[in-house]
Amino acid sequence: MTPKQTPKVRRWPGVLAAYREWLPVNEDTPPLSLGEGHTPLIRSDRLSDATGAEVYLKLEGANPTGSFKDRGMVLAVAKAAEAGSRAVVCASTGNTSASAAAYAARAGLRCVIVLPHGYVAAGKLAQARIHGAEMVALEGNFDDALRLVRRLAQELPVTLVNSVNPLRLQGQQTAAFEVCDALGRAPDKLCIPVGNAGNISAYWMGFSAYAEAGIVPNRPQMYGFEAAGAAALVAGHPIDHPETFATAIRIGHPASGHLALAAAQASGGGIRAVTDEEIAAAYRLLAGEGVFAEPGSAASVAGLLQLHRQGRVASGETVVCVLTGNGLKDPDSAMRLASGEMTVLPAVERDLQRWLEGVL
Ligand code: F0G
Repeated sequence: MTPKQTPKVRRWPGVLAAYREWLPVNEDTPPLSLGEGHTPLIRSDRLSDATGAEVYLKLEGANPTGSFKDRGMVLAVAKAAEAGSRAVVCASTGNTSASAAAYAARAGLRCVIVLPHGYVAAGKLAQARIHGAEMVALEGNFDDALRLVRRLAQELPVTLVNSVNPLRLQGQQTAAFEVCDALGRAPDKLCIPVGNAGNISAYWMGFSAYAEAGIVPNRPQMYGFEAAGAAALVAGHPIDHPETFATAIRIGHPASGHLALAAAQASGGGIRAVTDEEIAAAYRLLAGEGVFAEPGSAASVAGLLQLHRQGRVASGETVVCVLTGNGLKDPDSAMRLASGEMTVLPAVERDLQRWLEGVL
């Protein structure tokens, strides 16, 4: 028998090359990539069984720096380099800064990061530090940090790479393209966490662009979920002191709130709040199915379960929950929310066997 031929592996070129005709790139744009995009879309058996829908998870934690931010950051940093900028600057709850630091390093630019002191998960801090960013921890929250860096970027020759930079949203719409490319159509519902409200707006742009081009026949109902302690869009006014253990979305003045509300309304969806308890339960449910997403990401699943309890999920409809960041970003939350204990034993086979017999 002859051995089977090795399947031909085609290298994924990153989102700038893969979705070139949809993005403002040209011959002068540097071909920047860390291999972002092309993330898995996997079926969730547990959530499908629980809701009666066909539920898929978009694993954005599989991006190079572990979050969806890479899709927009690669474009924002490439265009900053193209324009001759020497430094990029951002405020961040952690993921934007990790991504900015990595892509700036890749492009040979400097990176300046302003963070809310004490509210950034350990993995995200470690990333920004090892990539060599200049970092400031501000005695304030994310909204304070964003307000200050926006002013700074007007005064100094640095490029702002928060999602108020429209290039970020243009890059992030590639996630919606991928969902459509994988399903052959848009889902019936998209469930997504909302913090500064950029990503939900980017997905809506992407779904709309594909529908207008006739590539898909439909657009999904867009459901965005804020943490209850930071639910400015649900409340209808900014929250000056947002609180949630899901620090990624601990944001009280969502900069793209108007776009998010417009997307939710135009699509027949909505923006809702999920409590920290609902987020923690969803985080554990996902982990029980082998999927490790950070707490902020689990807000999408918490939201789907809430919609189901309210009778808003139709049997057999297709739902995509976006898991925006990798669970490894926030090891402290995992250690705090994991059940069970770890046993310490002497290195003796009999002891180990007895322990295992007790466990099985
Ligand atoms: N999920 C994760 C893991 C995030 O890091 C963020 C935002 C969101 C969801 C919300 O996305 O802001 O577009 O509505 N993180 C930003 C940051 C604010 O600085 O890393 P959004």
